[in-house]
Amino acid sequence: MNVSQLSHIWAEVDPVVWLVTSRYGNASGGLIATFVNQASIVPECPRMVVGLSRQHHTTSLLDKSGAFALHLVDEEHVDWIWRFGLHSGRNADKLHGLDFDEGQTGSPILSEARCWLDCRVEARLNTGDRTIYLAEVVDADHRAGSPILTVQRLLQLAPADKLQLLNELHERDEKVDAQAIRAWRIQRPDPASSCTV
Ligand SMILES: Cc1cc2nc3c(=O)[nH]c(=O)nc-3n(C[C@H](O)[C@H](O)[C@H](O)COP(=O)(O)O)c2cc1C
Repeated sequence: MNVSQLSHIWAEVDPVVWLVTSRYGNASGGLIATFVNQASIVPECPRMVVGLSRQHHTTSLLDKSGAFALHLVDEEHVDWIWRFGLHSGRNADKLHGLDFDEGQTGSPILSEARCWLDCRVEARLNTGDRTIYLAEVVDADHRAGSPILTVQRLLQLAPADKLQLLNELHERDEKVDAQAIRAWRIQRPDPASSCTV
């Protein structure tokens, strides 16, 4: 497989940047994610799909609570990327000092977010490096404001020190994920034998 061609293909797509928050008991957390998508076209049954790395603190909160909130991050709140996306919340309260309310699911919803969705998990799939969650949207809000951040725009706005951190973290996560995918491939059940159709 030609890996450089693959990276050219991935670079053609400019994903939107989301903030995912969750709460379990007294512990709250959040991370930045691009693996987020609308998963239903039915307005009465809205759904989202989210893929989170199993090594992250927020993923463990979400696994226990079965709920999360999604926020679109606009350019005015680019500092949320540094707060939520550059270090683990395992030993720090990432929400400290921010205004937030509790959504219907109990997930923290940032008061300054201009678009958010409150979601309850309906199904999950372990793919080794990630857990992919399919979730029902139980509540949502939207208001106009500054442009929504995409990865390309984020890279333009990032100062040199943040850019360096982003690259270092990407490399670190890539290694952890590679190991997790390979381990999963060795132990997973034969997909053909579990096919029931
Ligand atoms: C632009 C960007 C996109 C990211 N996309 C994802 C993603 O889709 N899924 C994921 O699990 N982590 C993603 N991350 C990494 C997490 O946001 C990051 O590792 C975070 O610090 C984890 O925090 P936690 O351990 O407190 O949950 C992304 C980070 C950035 C900066």
